[in-house]
Amino acid sequence: MGTGLDNVIAAETVLSHVDGEAGRLIIRGHDLEELAGSASYEQAVALLWAGFVPVPTDIASMRDRLGAARAKAFTHFVPLLPSLGRLTATEAMRLLLSSIPDGESGQEPFDVLAAAGVAAACAMRTTAGLNSVEPDISLPHAADVFRMIRGRSGDADEVRAFESYLVTIIDHGLNASTFAARVVASTAARLPSAVVAALCALKGPLHGGAPGPVLDMLDAVGTPGNADAWISDALKRGERLMGFGHRVYRVRDPRANVLKMTVAKFKGRANRIALAEAVEAAALRALRDFKSDRRLDTNVEFYTALLLEALDIPRAGFTPVFGLGRTAGWIAHAREQEQTGRLIRPQSRYIGPWPVKAA
Ligand code: ACO
Repeated sequence: MGTGLDNVIAAETVLSHVDGEAGRLIIRGHDLEELAGSASYEQAVALLWAGFVPVPTDIASMRDRLGAARAKAFTHFVPLLPSLGRLTATEAMRLLLSSIPDGESGQEPFDVLAAAGVAAACAMRTTAGLNSVEPDISLPHAADVFRMIRGRSGDADEVRAFESYLVTIIDHGLNASTFAARVVASTAARLPSAVVAALCALKGPLHGGAPGPVLDMLDAVGTPGNADAWISDALKRGERLMGFGHRVYRVRDPRANVLKMTVAKFKGRANRIALAEAVEAAALRALRDFKSDRRLDTNVEFYTALLLEALDIPRAGFTPVFGLGRTAGWIAHAREQEQTGRLIRPQSRYIGPWPVKAA
């Protein structure tokens, strides 16, 4: 029988813990809700990387190193931008990141994390027919990447919301993309390769590709009054509802609450939030009936979609933005895996035909 390795413990980690029954996410000793409300992206990265990457003791130096690495990545990417035109934003980000060479061990994590932010911004703008924006190395990482994506600086509330999103999604146990990163890292293939592999896994709609389709669903539903009928028809057609269900959570994903509270602070979003709430309620009702043996609840992608839309980020860029934030987690896991010195190499059970002996 095909298996998704459900409940298999494939790694030990100090980085994050997903308690699927309680709906709790712990990131290196901190509850997500506490971290997302207080930490800058640099602080969250330093927390995750400690012991795996030589991080500076002060956050200002961390910012400086990421800023310098963004400038280096931009110079590296500029000649490649004319070749991106026919790709989607995520495909273009994948291509740019693939061009990053392996580096010197101490600097490599900074170069790869900065490159992910710059690659996402350049990929989104180039594939939309817009000029790429040079980094401003004096800015914190989140503020600058946000500016590079949109072509203009955000106000303080927007930047804080974007940064809080990046912290919220920075790490999440052994999800598919993180597992991919760890498998590649276990071969000693180095960080750029591990991060590209992770991005490839993130891209799919069952993982990090869901938030764009969440907005497509809200657009198709149109008004709160249509929600029940639309959801029921979609389930009858055998479709999966984007933004619902999770391999580990049996209750609401705690990240959904954090992101919902963040988007609710923005003025002018009341109608969109009301529509989303109606669709969410209809989906949860329908999924309870449709899959009575399985507890399916709202996952991170549902309110990710609303928040990134409120921040004026085009939906083609939702997966690249997820990827640029999660890169810090991928790097930490890759380094943690490297430290074990153990190649990940499971076995398969052969169920194919055996050679027929000649009579
Ligand atoms: N809509 C409709 N049916 C669903 C949904 C959904 N969103 N999620 C699960 N189901 C169904 C499955 O089809 C399956 O039905 P079956 O037993 O008849 O085959 C049953 O519920 C049980 O599925 P699970 O084993 O709980 O789901 P699984 O662990 O395989 O998948 C996944 C988890 C991929 C996230 C799934 O819930 C899904 O496809 N959701 C929609 C896409 C999505 O939101 N992805 C983002 C996930 S969050 C993240 O990765 C960052």
